[in-house]
Amino acid sequence: MTSPGASRPADDHQAREYRHALGRFPTGVAFVSARTANGEAAGLLINSFTSVSLDPPMVLWCLGLTSRTRPVFAVAPTFAVSVLSESQRGLLTELCRPLEHRLRGVPVRDGLGGAPVLEAAAAVFECSVVTVTRAGDHDVYLGQVERFERCDGPPLACLAGQYGRVHIAA
Ligand SMILES: Cc1cc2nc3c(=O)[nH]c(=O)nc-3n(C[C@H](O)[C@H](O)[C@H](O)COP(=O)(O)O)c2cc1C
Repeated sequence: MTSPGASRPADDHQAREYRHALGRFPTGVAFVSARTANGEAAGLLINSFTSVSLDPPMVLWCLGLTSRTRPVFAVAPTFAVSVLSESQRGLLTELCRPLEHRLRGVPVRDGLGGAPVLEAAAAVFECSVVTVTRAGDHDVYLGQVERFERCDGPPLACLAGQYGRVHIAA
């Protein structure tokens, strides 16, 4: 018997298929972070980052409702998005660690509002929060880009849960 709320194998199969279908869309990988007025910082790896508007420059990303970083993002007026470069692939393990020691030993500087920004990122977007909208099991953060920078090195690409260098064959 299936109790209310428990998923059935067919549902699990469908959910897996859905994730695999989403995995057909190649993305980059970014570390998004923020700091509260009390000095508490948090950040997490994301691939839900996207550009929304060029004029004014606006971007969005999505935060899962179960993320332990939520209390920080909920009150911070700014956030910073560090797009990982291909040379930062080795940082993925560190940036997946439990929140308490996620940034231990990771080279960062303080960005807008004190948000930790990864040194040597492929690009950095420092943003003020415009709106936060609940959408299913995520909050959608829309931000206005106040400052940005980019490096010349290649970004890290993500496809179907794997990471690598972008190679566009003509
Ligand atoms: C490549 C990659 C992309 C991810 N993208 C997102 C995302 O867009 N939004 C999100 O909330 N979590 C995303 N996650 C999961 C978070 O990085 C993190 O593991 C999760 O929020 C749980 O940790 P936390 O509770 O410390 O936040 C992603 C993880 C990886 C490895």
